[in-house]
Amino acid sequence: MSFYVAGTGSALPEKVVTNNDLTEFLDTSDEWIRTRTGIERRHVLTSERLDDLAIRSAKTALQDAGVSGEELDLIMCATMRADTFTPSLACTVAEAIGSTAPAFDLNAACVGVLYAMEIADSFIVAGKAKNVLIVSAEAMSKLVDWTDRSTCVLFGDGAGAMVVRAGEGRLSGVLSTKPDSHVIRMPNIEGLNSPYNKIAQEPLAMHMDGGEVYKFAVNAMGRNIEEACTRAGIGPADVDWYLPHQANLRIIDASLKKFKIDKSKVLTNIADCGNMSATSVMVLLDQFAKKGTFKKGDKLLFVAFGGGLTSGAVIITWNKE
Ligand code: UT7
Repeated sequence: MSFYVAGTGSALPEKVVTNNDLTEFLDTSDEWIRTRTGIERRHVLTSERLDDLAIRSAKTALQDAGVSGEELDLIMCATMRADTFTPSLACTVAEAIGSTAPAFDLNAACVGVLYAMEIADSFIVAGKAKNVLIVSAEAMSKLVDWTDRSTCVLFGDGAGAMVVRAGEGRLSGVLSTKPDSHVIRMPNIEGLNSPYNKIAQEPLAMHMDGGEVYKFAVNAMGRNIEEACTRAGIGPADVDWYLPHQANLRIIDASLKKFKIDKSKVLTNIADCGNMSATSVMVLLDQFAKKGTFKKGDKLLFVAFGGGLTSGAVIITWNKE
């Protein structure tokens, strides 16, 4: 007994910022961003709240699964920055959907949803949960330095959700960490300051060594795909759909190259959404599920990497009713 995905949902901010819009205040070009990353536009929060998007996507996923808030046994939100430190985003969502299930946020950067899927599996296998809501919401536009062209052009905002239910579906999972506090770094608002310890604040925005992240990503994605397939007793060619973290089309291509996978099996939405951190794979799943892409019995492989540095892969069989 493990879990299958019973419902999905997603919500994106209304405002769309194109690469050309960015050239109004940044020394960049549509051509540079497209060819280096595959990104054409991204959604950015303006007057909306991140928790409203999270609640909308959660309600859609619950409706899709035919599950009410009262029937949930666990709620997890993968996010690096909720609108409030407390209540957690998970508790805010719980209040909005009428749930009293245990609810907490987790931060594994862009791999958060995969970590949440593996925790959900543990709860379900242990008999502690039947219906689990996983939400992811990221406001990357509030974390990046909008004067740093090497990072701010890469990201977008959004929210997504899935309900997973006890049953047959998950085939394998692998999570790993290669601790490194320099390659991607984003200090929080207070840093190490307190009223009794005033120190110089390190810059608040994201710092990233793009080249190092690129190398880590290609290596980690390839390794995690192989390991997840081995654990599932299948080969990479047996996977019907690849849902990779949407950081850069070149990273996706490079990490999958050695498996000689038919490109039509590799799903992307990076052109329209950019990198939404943990939320990327969740929105990708919902968009292609709603298009009717997945057939019962299809094998889906999620693979991601991110700050930490974290990485992982999860393989499921699509058994949604
Ligand atoms: O979720 C995880 C988050 N992080 C990532 O996924 C990042 C992974 N890394 C990458 O995606 C790529 O390394 C980047 C897209 C960030 C950069 O691509 P690159 O091919 O590695 O470019 P580069 O950093 O080597 O920069 C090449 C040139 C530099 O100019 P010079 O020194 O050659 O004159 C940069 O200053 O491109 C310049 N550049 C830009 N030019 C126009 C950097 N950003 C921009 C920009 N527009 N936005």
